Amino acid sequence: MHSLRLIFRFVAPYRARLYGALLLLLASTGLAMVGPEIQRLIVDRAIIGGKTRLLFPLLTALVAAALGRGVALFFRGYLQEWVGQRVVYDLRHRLYAHLQELSPAYYARTYTGEIMSRVTGDVERVRQFVTSGVVDLLNSVLTFGFVSIILFRMNWQLTLVTLSISPLLAITVLRFDRRIRPAWRAIERQAGVLSTVIQESLAGVRVVKAFAREPFEVERFRRESEGFADTQVRAARIWAHSFPLIEFLTALSWVLLVGVGGRQVALGRMTVGELVAFNGYLWSLIWPIRNLGWLVNLFEQASTASDRILEILNAPVDIQEPPHPVRLRVKGEIRFENVSFKYDEEAYGDHALRSPGLFGFNLTVHPGERVAVVGPTGCGKTTVVHLLLRLYDPQTGRILIDGVDLRELDLVTYRRQVGVVQQETFLFSTSIKENIAFGRLSATDEEIREAARLAQADRFIERLPDGYETVVGERGVGLSGGERQRVAIARALLMNPAILVLDDPTSSVDAETEAEIQAALRRLMQGRTTLIVSQRVSAVRDADWIVVLDEGRIVQQGRHEELINQPGVYRRLFAPQLGLPAGEEAAACR
Ligand SMILES: Nc1ncnc2c1ncn2[C@@H]1O[C@H](COP(=O)(O)OP(=O)(O)OP(=O)(O)O)[C@@H](O)[C@H]1O
Ligand SMILES: [Mg+2]
Repeated sequence: MHSLRLIFRFVAPYRARLYGALLLLLASTGLAMVGPEIQRLIVDRAIIGGKTRLLFPLLTALVAAALGRGVALFFRGYLQEWVGQRVVYDLRHRLYAHLQELSPAYYARTYTGEIMSRVTGDVERVRQFVTSGVVDLLNSVLTFGFVSIILFRMNWQLTLVTLSISPLLAITVLRFDRRIRPAWRAIERQAGVLSTVIQESLAGVRVVKAFAREPFEVERFRRESEGFADTQVRAARIWAHSFPLIEFLTALSWVLLVGVGGRQVALGRMTVGELVAFNGYLWSLIWPIRNLGWLVNLFEQASTASDRILEILNAPVDIQEPPHPVRLRVKGEIRFENVSFKYDEEAYGDHALRSPGLFGFNLTVHPGERVAVVGPTGCGKTTVVHLLLRLYDPQTGRILIDGVDLRELDLVTYRRQVGVVQQETFLFSTSIKENIAFGRLSATDEEIREAARLAQADRFIERLPDGYETVVGERGVGLSGGERQRVAIARALLMNPAILVLDDPTSSVDAETEAEIQAALRRLMQGRTTLIVSQRVSAVRDADWIVVLDEGRIVQQGRHEELINQPGVYRRLFAPQLGLPAGEEAAACR
């Protein structure tokens, strides 16, 4: 029930139309009730009573009732569908907006396929419930109520006899539903698994091919797909099992009707017309009972679906905006104060020591300064970048920007003033132009070209089939690692940021291009605070300050000339690039 509240919350804005649908429902149910009564008059008065002149008006009334009912059904269907579609639209929109809010930590623990099946499949089940479930449920209740009253008033003995079957029918239908429900659940779960398999192996298609794992992937898919088919078949079997019994019970009530009712007609206690009408009403009574299973099922599915949707909507946004966010015009002072961060928040005891992250990190960067973070792979360099962008919050310590705690800042304003080139370049499957303008949609073509020129990307872009309009990525032109990196640099530069964060920005370009980019970057770094992560000595040697990390801790800091002349991690990492011996002492120091 709790989960269905979600649906009602989303339906609320469209209440008026839903009420309209309910009114039409009342009308159509009411009109349906007229039919058997007219039939009774036709049989008793017109046919048996011989008043043939009544035949025409009665038949006309029958047709009119059917037509009226048709019109009511049409508009009711339209309104239901309209409300359903709006609700789903709103729901999907809210879900997606929330998904955008969630932090990388959330995505690290959730399968993409699972999320996709919720945004599409589960939302669809909610729509089904809103479009047919709610109104059909009321329809069944109304019909059942109306018809029972009519039948009891017509002939209560016959009603009792024929309806004696209905509890049995209801029990059968509900038992059937209880058995089929786990089967439906299994189908949903399996659908999620299947879409995760597809999504992962398609996203990783190059790795799959490079390792010749196609047969394995096909087999993995076949297995899950077979599991999917199996669960479907299991559900179908349960379905098929219950049907004969339901049909049998339905037929039985008819037998009782003709047996008992026919006798009453023969004894003159009931007219033929009444029997005909009774028959008509009985059918409209049995239908809601038979429909019960389907409705309960729809209800069930919608409530599981909304549970799953709620799981996303209620997933806490780890990175919370402060109640009174500070909108800062960033000058560029960065200060890490005793910052410790663990990816695995639950890590404790011995495990805490081994859990990766950053420990007791202190660093001050004055406005306009250029600071490099270096260290062996996996030492926590990218982690520093993530914390500075507030993709994660540190567990202890704080990060100050111009003296204000990062957690107090208005994130959007802040991030718009930080230009970042991430280690793993991600481009969207749109034009190069749009990719470069990603951080500043208002940029002019001229500015975009200028940014590309500074990032040494203009030459290769102009050689592409459609130049800046070339679509890259999926369904577009492929770019090399170095080309992608340069587009990413242009994207960061275009933002004209106060703080520039470069995470190994030239890891995929050749030495010559790198020198050119470095030269361009050097000009750009003027007057901006820059945090650069690099494995290349050329990128860090003229930094104002260099921090050397190892296993999440600062092990050395200073300027290049000092660090390269003392034994330690820095020398071990960079001496070979300068053609210097790494030094015996360096090894001994470890
Ligand atoms: N999302 C994550 N969840 C858990 N651990 C992570 C996560 N990201 C990184 N780590 C771990 O944190 C440590 C530091 O990672 P980080 O990405 O900061 O290294 P790095 O210094 O940037 O390395 P590289 O030079 O290879 O880019 C590593 O041991 C890594 O395995
Ligand atoms: Mg890294």
